[in-house]
Parts: sequence; C-alpha cells; structure tokens
Amino acid sequence: MIKTISPKEVPTATFHRYMLGAIAPRPIAFVSSIDRVGQINLSPFSFFNAFGSNPPVLVFSPSRRVRDNTTKHTLENVSEVPEVVVNIVNYEMVQQMSLASTEYERGINEFVKAGLTEERSVFVKPPRVKEAPVAFECKVLEIRPIGEEGGAANLVICEILLIHIDETILTEGGEIAPDKLDAVARMGGDWYCRANGNALFKVKKPIKTKGIGIDQLPEKVRHSVVLTGNDLGKLGNVEALPDEGAVQDYAMRPEIEEMLVRFQNDEESLLFNLHEYAKDLLAADRVEEAWLVLLQG
Ligand SMILES: Cc1cc2nc3c(=O)[nH]c(=O)nc-3n(C[C@H](O)[C@H](O)[C@H](O)COP(=O)(O)O)c2cc1C
Repeated sequence: MIKTISPKEVPTATFHRYMLGAIAPRPIAFVSSIDRVGQINLSPFSFFNAFGSNPPVLVFSPSRRVRDNTTKHTLENVSEVPEVVVNIVNYEMVQQMSLASTEYERGINEFVKAGLTEERSVFVKPPRVKEAPVAFECKVLEIRPIGEEGGAANLVICEILLIHIDETILTEGGEIAPDKLDAVARMGGDWYCRANGNALFKVKKPIKTKGIGIDQLPEKVRHSVVLTGNDLGKLGNVEALPDEGAVQDYAMRPEIEEMLVRFQNDEESLLFNLHEYAKDLLAADRVEEAWLVLLQG
C-alpha cells in the first residue's frame, strides 16, 4: 500500500516531517555569519547543497519557522552583511554542532556556546570553525525567499571564494578521503548518518562507457528470481556481452561443467544455481565473469 499525500491536505508540520524523513541524508552547512555591528552567529542548516563549480555555488536555506513563522538570525545577518563561511561537520563535532542549533537570543555567539574556535577568514568577515575539516568562505549573491508563511524557504545563494581543507583528510593523491572526512548528515527527526566504515561504498561512474541497459538483458536474466535490481544494474552497465567462444570456453570450467551435467534435465535448478554463482561474482565486482556464467543458462 502506498500513502499519497498532498501538501494542501495536511498541516505544514506533518508534510515537513515526511519531506525531511524522505530527503535524507542531507549534508549540513554549519554557517557562520555576522551582523552589521559585528556580532557573530553560528548555526547548522541541512537544506544545503552544491549547485555548480564555475562559478562555485552553494545554497542553504534558513527557513521561516513552521511553528511561529519567525525568521532565523542567520537570515537577518546575511541581509545585513552578505558574507558567510560554510563549515563542514564531521562526527567529532556533531554534538557541538547540535548545541549550536539552540535558539539562543540574537547576539549570542554560538562559537562560544558550542565551545568551538573562531579562526580568522581571509576574504570575509565571519570567522570559520577551526575544528571543521573543510570550510568555504563565501559571498552571498542573492537571497531568494519562496513564500511568506511558516516553513517558507529563503534560498541563500553563495559564491565560494576560498576553500580551506585540513590536510589530514587528504589521500596521498591529494583527494578528499571520505573515511577521513567522516562527515555527518541529517536524516528525519533526531536521526543523523555518519559517512564512515561500512556506510561507504563505490559505484563506478558510467562516464566513458555506454552500458547496454537492463532492457537489453536476456529475459531469463532480467526475470531472475535470484538477481536483484543492483545486480541487474551492474550487468546492464557492460557495453557488450561476451562472445560465443568465451562463453563456450567458460563452460569447460569444472564447477560450471558439473552444474550443467547435474541439472541437464532441470532447467529451473540450473538457472537458479548459475544465477546464485553469478550473484557472488557480481558481489566481488567480477562482472565479465558473471556474464560468462549467466550465458550458460
Ligand atoms: C543538523 C541541523 C540542520 C538544520 N537545518 C536547518 C535548515 O536547513 N533550515 C533551517 O531553517 N533550520 C535548520 N536547523 C535549525 C537551525 O539550526 C536553528 O533554527 C538555529 O537556531 C538557527 O539559528 P539562528 O537563528 O541563529 O540563525 C537545523 C538544525 C540542525 C541541528
């Protein structure tokens, strides 16, 4: 059963909860800003992402409160001084970041409340968070409100002027290592997500290849009772199926030959066993070999 809900038929708070539960994990912009008299603010925003790299642009949204339609100090600050530092949050500082989200009175510096260190920025007035693994100094290009009621977005569109990276999170090749970054992201309610350990995995980008697509897989493979959507995705990512000769050669492998003989009068069991075997190969990213197995059936 599917629950289908129009935003018009439920209270904003209810829709908000479904949205945030589903659009997850969301990265967190830990934003430092400053007002016209120089009072510093630091608050997290998970309505946040990157949108281009030339010019490098990121957007976050200090929304109007669903509860009482009030606006956030960060929004007021960027209207006065259109500069921010967007700091990236790692697991080590997640509790301090959460503390900084407390609705302190205007003028209270959450760097102080959360016990984080102000580091002078190069191009902008708000300081960056010294403990953050990455920080972006940004100028605010535009503040774009969308709506005026509780829950309305205020898109703060920023151009990145500088990026500061803690070198200890870099690989030897100079790339940001996801496990060293140890980023945290926001889910629905009180849930967070840590991009670390088993949560990290790779999927090869199909940039240079044009996979045949799942629609081109043989029927028996496509409707397999063993292979999952992820397995089919890997199989459909090859550019061509192995040729007949390679398939025949592979049939001589003892384990394959044994299967072909054992299930010669039982096609269903043969397919099941071949697909199980191929599934293990796919799990080890041995896609070509998986194809040689599957084409035996
Ligand atoms: C992880 C996290 C993500 C948040 N994301 C947002 C967000 O995207 N937009 C928003 O308006 N408030 C968000 N909040 C709530 C604000 O951080 C909170 O209202 C804060 O007090 C605003 O501070 P300010 O009024 O000093 O700007 C988030 C809070 C947390 C802990």
